[in-house]
Amino acid sequence: MHGIFTTILMSAFVKFTYTCENSTVIEIPENFKIGASTSSYQIEGGWNLDGKTENVWDTFTHNHPEKIEDHSNGDVAADSYHFYKKDVEALKYVGFNQYRFSISWSRVIANGTIINKKGIEYYNNLINELILNRIEPVVTMFHWDLPQYLQNLGGFVNPLITKYFEFYANVLFENFGDRVKIWITFNEPTLYCIGEYGEGRSGSYIKAPGVGEYLCGHHLLISHANVYHLYKNKFYDKQKGEIGISLKLQYLYPKDETITKEFVERSLDLTNGWFINPIFSKNGGYPEELVKIFVKKSIEEGTWSRLPIMSDELKKRIQGTADFMGVNYYSSELVEPKTQLDDSPQFDIDIGLTFSVDERWPKSDSLWLYIVPEGLYDLLIWIRDRYKNPKIMITENGYADNGEINDFERIKYIKQHIAVILKAKSENCNIVSYMVWSLLDNFEWNIGYSAALGIFSVNMSSPLKERTPKRSAKFFKNLITNGKFEMC
Ligand SMILES: *[C@@H]1O[C@H](CO)[C@@H](O)[C@H](O)[C@H]1NC(C)=O
Ligand SMILES: *[C@@H]1O[C@H](CO)[C@@H](O)[C@H](O)[C@H]1NC(C)=O
Ligand SMILES: *[C@@H]1O[C@H](CO)[C@@H](O)[C@H](O)[C@H]1NC(C)=O
Repeated sequence: MHGIFTTILMSAFVKFTYTCENSTVIEIPENFKIGASTSSYQIEGGWNLDGKTENVWDTFTHNHPEKIEDHSNGDVAADSYHFYKKDVEALKYVGFNQYRFSISWSRVIANGTIINKKGIEYYNNLINELILNRIEPVVTMFHWDLPQYLQNLGGFVNPLITKYFEFYANVLFENFGDRVKIWITFNEPTLYCIGEYGEGRSGSYIKAPGVGEYLCGHHLLISHANVYHLYKNKFYDKQKGEIGISLKLQYLYPKDETITKEFVERSLDLTNGWFINPIFSKNGGYPEELVKIFVKKSIEEGTWSRLPIMSDELKKRIQGTADFMGVNYYSSELVEPKTQLDDSPQFDIDIGLTFSVDERWPKSDSLWLYIVPEGLYDLLIWIRDRYKNPKIMITENGYADNGEINDFERIKYIKQHIAVILKAKSENCNIVSYMVWSLLDNFEWNIGYSAALGIFSVNMSSPLKERTPKRSAKFFKNLITNGKFEMC
């Protein structure tokens, strides 16, 4: 199709003009799966029901409502604890192949120590409902909602967390592994460790910059690897599933022409590489350049390396422990050498980089989201070339707005991103699926409900929490029905 196509929509508040030139048709390849993502704390509610104990996000939002933009919390949220069947109905309406959700640790294991039958029953019901409707469950074990009890023992800075996580994972495999074949151990370790143990802005609320984030990351990597080995040794023969990890990644572009290609490559290693390198690289371990920084700093600071040392044995234990890489992508940034003189320990200062955005990039209504689809393309090619083309699932990608039902800007964002994913796939990147963030408008951590990322709107003021498909839900429905979409 070629030509100009204009839609004008009028409602009481919106006048929307949409111009589309030179449209092309993008076909979805056979066997490429399309799904949607959520996480437990962000949608479930039922925070204190049926034996669920408090997690760090319950405690944090209750003690510090002022840290959440609209002073809200996830006590009820979309109430998926009661309305999970409505979620499955929504997925079915669209025709999604997959649903990525997370399990609330403190719901299935009270305080992280005592198995809670009611919690297990809830997820059995959800999983059975999905399977009944031919939707493949993709299950994240940990999406930030750590049992408060374990946090009181230090959470992810305590090496013993690896035992508790293994115990938890074992319970999940035993109870759900007959039906769940795709597991994700952790969601976005970089954001989790920096946000909750470094900068201490949220959740665990531990402010220990320059130390906490690295200890957290270290024990998280060990926990991940232990669970991978547990699965392969004890469950794989029977259950035949796959295990991966979801990483929030971005591409980096030079801030100006003085910045070299080598500098950008090194910056990608120092940021994306923190969690990719130990698991997916040929040699294992933290990125060499990152280790070098901390060797140098330990001498300057007269102490041991704040980034824990990985023995060769540990490197080997972690290396190769993923059947796929989950990629969460929203945006990219510009990079330049650190400009501030501040030397205090803190991740971005330690790695000596300053990040910014290109003001020419289009921006969503929501504060943080610059629209950089080419960054996803460049990222995928970088992963292909740098890490021997691992199998990839896009486990998150989405657009923030103010909750409008006629969410044309979201559709545009999604089209642009799926288009570059399929372009990368046609250039041999091993990408097998795309999951949009998010199925529902939900509790978006520190911004609460003040930005919307769902393709279904949720009436938060109604006790029935009705889900209403936005335009983007209909877009996905058409895309899945027709196996293609029109790109503008
Ligand atoms: C549409 O195609 C024409 C002819 O190939 C080209 O000149 C024009 O720049 C294209 N417009 C856009 C927006 O890409
Ligand atoms: C969880 O821990 C809290 C605090 O120690 C305790 O009061 C509560 O009884 C524990 N709950 C369960 C189910 O063990
Ligand atoms: C949300 O639910 C409330 C209470 O049931 C109702 O009054 C309101 O009209 C609903 N809002 C929308 C947008 O449907």
